[in-house]
Amino acid sequence: FDYDVVITNGICVTAADIAAYDIAIKQEKIVLLAPSGSLARVNARQIIDADGGYVTPGGVDCHVHLEEPAMFGRGTSSDTYETGTRSAIAGGCTAIVAFAPQTKQEPSLLKALEATHARARGNSYCDYGFHLLVGNPGEQALSEFAALTEHEGVTSLKIYMTYAALQLRDDQILSVLLEARRNRIFTMVHAENGDVLNWLTDQLEAKKLFSPKYHSHSRPPVLEAEATNRAIALSSLISNTPILLVHVSDPGATLRIREAQSNGQPIFAETCPQYLFLTRDDLDKPGFEGAKCVCSPPPRDKASQEVIWTGVRNGTFAVVSSDHCPFNYDDAERGKKTCIDDEHPVGRFKEIPNGIPGIETRLPLLFSSGKLPLTKFVEVTSTNPAKLYGLYPSKGSMIPGVSDADLVIWYPDSKLPNITLTNSMLHHATDYTPYEGRKIANWPRYTILRGRVVWDRDNGGVLGEKSFGRFLKRGPSSLDRMWETVDEQGEFDVTKL
Ligand code: URP
Ligand code: ZN
Ligand code: ZN
Ligand code: ZN
Repeated sequence: FDYDVVITNGICVTAADIAAYDIAIKQEKIVLLAPSGSLARVNARQIIDADGGYVTPGGVDCHVHLEEPAMFGRGTSSDTYETGTRSAIAGGCTAIVAFAPQTKQEPSLLKALEATHARARGNSYCDYGFHLLVGNPGEQALSEFAALTEHEGVTSLKIYMTYAALQLRDDQILSVLLEARRNRIFTMVHAENGDVLNWLTDQLEAKKLFSPKYHSHSRPPVLEAEATNRAIALSSLISNTPILLVHVSDPGATLRIREAQSNGQPIFAETCPQYLFLTRDDLDKPGFEGAKCVCSPPPRDKASQEVIWTGVRNGTFAVVSSDHCPFNYDDAERGKKTCIDDEHPVGRFKEIPNGIPGIETRLPLLFSSGKLPLTKFVEVTSTNPAKLYGLYPSKGSMIPGVSDADLVIWYPDSKLPNITLTNSMLHHATDYTPYEGRKIANWPRYTILRGRVVWDRDNGGVLGEKSFGRFLKRGPSSLDRMWETVDEQGEFDVTKL
């Protein structure tokens, strides 16, 4: 055989352009792009006819929580590496970067990383990397940053301004940013003011307001905007160290980010489908139903949704990630959202673990939305995540001889599936989807990972194996000359402040 796989009759979309061409794959890589139809009769092990459907690079989801200990309220993750990554490929996602959590009790980041490797190794249907989730930035952890980038291929981390188990003080954030800057580690920041939301939570509980909808009252927009502004200020103090604001939901925070970007600061931002497709009304359902949409920050109002959509279109948000952080709605043994008792007949919002599942629905929801040009869809769901987290160009593009053969083939207009989303269609191990009942216009028909068809919706579904996913050692971020800009600025020098 001259090629392992050939995809013919597809309309290929990258972040840069849309054009009809055939794709040839050999030894896990894209090796040739050729005029449409010209490869239909070559000598290939497998020829896939895209029937005129779109072909996009595999999705790259750089915000995924799997098998983390309880940190975001009661309950533990309902998905393992196995079930979470199975769900990923069925939704067109071929690479993830998940979190390796360091708890406050664990002084070593390298130990936290090793424990996460042990959970993922041999259990992943898609390729995967890790960000450190830094819960204890003591001397030991800070001294390990160099080893993370030089030996472990871990070039990013996440810190929190909320959650008792994870919240860092401002001085701790400065220490992390300084060490991250020295080692070219990219820092993700969860920006919500934890002290304020705890105080507001106590106010609500004192009034006996416990139901899921009050989760939103405990986290009003200003609390996100304040923490976002503070994170940007702390970054600027450490000579403009690059940061990314994760899961942004609020127009005020968005405006502040846009302003910092316009000033030339290396401020990046992410949003998620929950802030594009859900609103706070989804938390206000009868009984305990609203718990299915409890995440932090909470979904906002309709007008905010539109601001977030605009931010995706105009580049304020470099990436749209899932923030897949799944808990079962009703499961007595494993992670459960349930916190109903005699005193709290509709539950108690402060005990509901924060987070929702969405690794499988991210690409179909966005692709089908009709609210993004397809090039922008590819940019924010694949190309930019790959660039931002040091996976480009082996991931996130279709460069012959260079890019891994990670592809999604969508249904052509002539064969569109008629999908009303139900949880039973999904491949995670979570007992609900917050998007139940939604009409979805298109879905990945095939997902291809390194030249192998791992998902064929009409013939067998999941065809991949949990041993096929590979750990991805990542390089430094290559988006927007991020580290070149830092080099030009030189080292942090407190006397220059
Ligand atoms: O509610 C959320 N977002 N849960 C996941 C944890 C996090 O902060 O990303
Ligand atoms: Zn977060
Ligand atoms: Zn998250
Ligand atoms: Zn109770």
